[in-house]
Amino acid sequence: MVGIGYRKEFSKEFLYDHKIHPDFVEVAPENWLGVGGYWKQEFKKVREKYPLFLHGLSLSIGSPEGVDIDFVKKIKAFIEETGAVLYSEHLSFSKVDNAHLYDLLPIPFTQDAIDRVVENILIVQDLLGRRLILENASYYTLLKQEISEPEFINEIVRRSDCEMLLDVNNVYVNSFNHHYDAKEFISKMPLERVKYIHIAGHFKVNEHLIIDTHGAEIIDPVYDLLDFTLQKLQREVPILLERDFNIPELEVLESEMTQLRNIQNKVLNPMIV
Ligand SMILES: [Fe+2]
Repeated sequence: MVGIGYRKEFSKEFLYDHKIHPDFVEVAPENWLGVGGYWKQEFKKVREKYPLFLHGLSLSIGSPEGVDIDFVKKIKAFIEETGAVLYSEHLSFSKVDNAHLYDLLPIPFTQDAIDRVVENILIVQDLLGRRLILENASYYTLLKQEISEPEFINEIVRRSDCEMLLDVNNVYVNSFNHHYDAKEFISKMPLERVKYIHIAGHFKVNEHLIIDTHGAEIIDPVYDLLDFTLQKLQREVPILLERDFNIPELEVLESEMTQLRNIQNKVLNPMIV
């Protein structure tokens, strides 16, 4: 299964022009909670046509002061109302006390942070009645690091019994910026808990820095990393093509989705392709 983010900018072509054929769509619940009128109707049509995956932006699971219980209840109601098949979020934080930082900031790789994140995840999972699916973050500044990122992620997943959204492009971006081996990193992930994959393009600023913009086409090394990941997984996991800026003609996105499906088919059915 290969999906794409549904965006208001291309809603008309998306719903009526048949230029693109995703197997599912992803939206941020924060962008649709409480929406009424025309857009409520358009969103309903999208849901009738495609399975809906939700990818949240503002849960802030890494916040030391805990999660916003009222917000989680709203998300639960939205999941039920929309019949969404999946709800994922970021392994990051975006809120400290009452300040919303409007960014997805990485959590320090420390034991103290793990304890707080696990506590937060258990509360959210209890409220939602389902496991959280959390995405590995991209980050640009060096963090306080008592343990490695793979150790950090593995301990959180093991202790909270949550699941993982593996963003292959985030791994590529971090491995480039922080000089580590992307395949080795992926091999150390809790792969049996991966329920969802993200892939995207990024922006290369210079020879030392790339930024996870979701504003360009996927590059070959990232396709290769996806191929490697799927070989490791050896099972079908839904893949989302993320594109948030510089949106091209839908035919371009369709051809990227075809390439993703081809990789998935090649890995899962090596005798047929
Ligand atoms: Fe992502």
